[in-house]
Amino acid sequence: MGNVAVIGSQWGDEGKGKIVDWLSSRADVVVRFQGGHNAGHTLVIDGVTYKLHLLPSGIVRDGALSIIGNGVVVDPWALMAEIEAIRKQGVEITPERLMVAENAPLILPVHGALDEAMEMTRGNKPIGTTKRGIGPAYEDKVARRALRVCDLEYPDVMRRKLERMMLHHNALLKGLGAPEVSVDEIYDQLMAVRDDILPFMAVTWQVMDQARQEGKKILFEGAQGMMLDVDHGTYPYVTSSNMAAAQAATGSGVGPDAINFVLGITKAYTTRVGSGPFPTELEDEVGQFLGEKGHEFGTTTGRKRRCGWFDAVAVRQAIKLGGITGIALTKIDVLDGLKEIKICVGYELDGQRLDYLPASQVKQADLTPVYETVEGWSESTCGARSWADLPAAAVKYVRHIEELIGAPVTLLSTSPERDDTILMQDPFMAGR
Ligand code: IMP
Repeated sequence: MGNVAVIGSQWGDEGKGKIVDWLSSRADVVVRFQGGHNAGHTLVIDGVTYKLHLLPSGIVRDGALSIIGNGVVVDPWALMAEIEAIRKQGVEITPERLMVAENAPLILPVHGALDEAMEMTRGNKPIGTTKRGIGPAYEDKVARRALRVCDLEYPDVMRRKLERMMLHHNALLKGLGAPEVSVDEIYDQLMAVRDDILPFMAVTWQVMDQARQEGKKILFEGAQGMMLDVDHGTYPYVTSSNMAAAQAATGSGVGPDAINFVLGITKAYTTRVGSGPFPTELEDEVGQFLGEKGHEFGTTTGRKRRCGWFDAVAVRQAIKLGGITGIALTKIDVLDGLKEIKICVGYELDGQRLDYLPASQVKQADLTPVYETVEGWSESTCGARSWADLPAAAVKYVRHIEELIGAPVTLLSTSPERDDTILMQDPFMAGR
């Protein structure tokens, strides 16, 4: 029996919510290890919909401990608002059930202002961020000027650090022609929220260590997807954290040996929100069909997602870089009714064939996908719970994807319903 990390293998929105929900019902500890409230995981349990952004999915499960790890950037106001909203849905959230790493950096209101101001400077080439202040907060962490959860305990330290930080940011905001942000205002807001947050603060690496010693099952819950990874994604059109499974260790304070199985959530086609390269994007009626049938609108910002064919090259790369053991293939039912389906098996650049996604943004923008066309199916796959329920062409599609990406399909999801799943292997039991 081992621990499982769940990560996205594309540009996020692969349908992690349902899979994480299923896994979290069997985990003792669920930990978030990167990102912040830019994420959006929708869980439907007994007909009740929960929309989570920052809280780990274990929060809606009795008996599971939820941890927000040090790799997450925490907006204390967003966290309290989410806690209140979920409490209103009847979920008990106590410091015994939710712990926040004492060394997690804080997102402050100035980070949202900077996120917005920086996007303005990018003119007609914005990143298309969620404007949650994620990037600027991670910048502060690396620049060693971040306020962290533990600083909330000491108002005078908090004030000193805040003054130093604002010296930097206000110079920048002024230079950008944006309104400056007052130290007093942020300080007062922090003083008002600290008593709500501090009870949840914990030495989470010790809690994780204890859980491991007791043989508890840990689920590492990733957000976003490998193509948005700050090192390995379509830089600079990425978010500011690492999605690779290695980050599950660093971002929660355990060694890499704590992760026994990495499940890569993978959509049967491709979507992306925000700007940036997307070689298999479809700006035609097929793209529209996928968007409408797949309800492709962002959970956090409500933005329409761009849609395209499955990119086996990008996913194969994500599997290698992310350390993915097996994939959960989601939303195959969205492809029902298409006469033929295309799969990207390579790229062409300046007359040359590439079998990988190059790092250069110049090259990424110029790639032409090389497609293989496979037969579609007219029957419905929606709600299938065994291979025998699937049309032969759908089985062929899945098997071909496995071959192209070099990883097995561990789980196939055939509708948003929890039980509409075909399980090949239990990730908690199959770990290395
Ligand atoms: P940021 O994380 O707000 O800085 O946004 C950077 C890029 O990541 C933008 O293209 C966002 O649309 C994208 N992004 C951030 N979070 C998510 C997510 O949870 N799902 C999909 N895309 C995301």
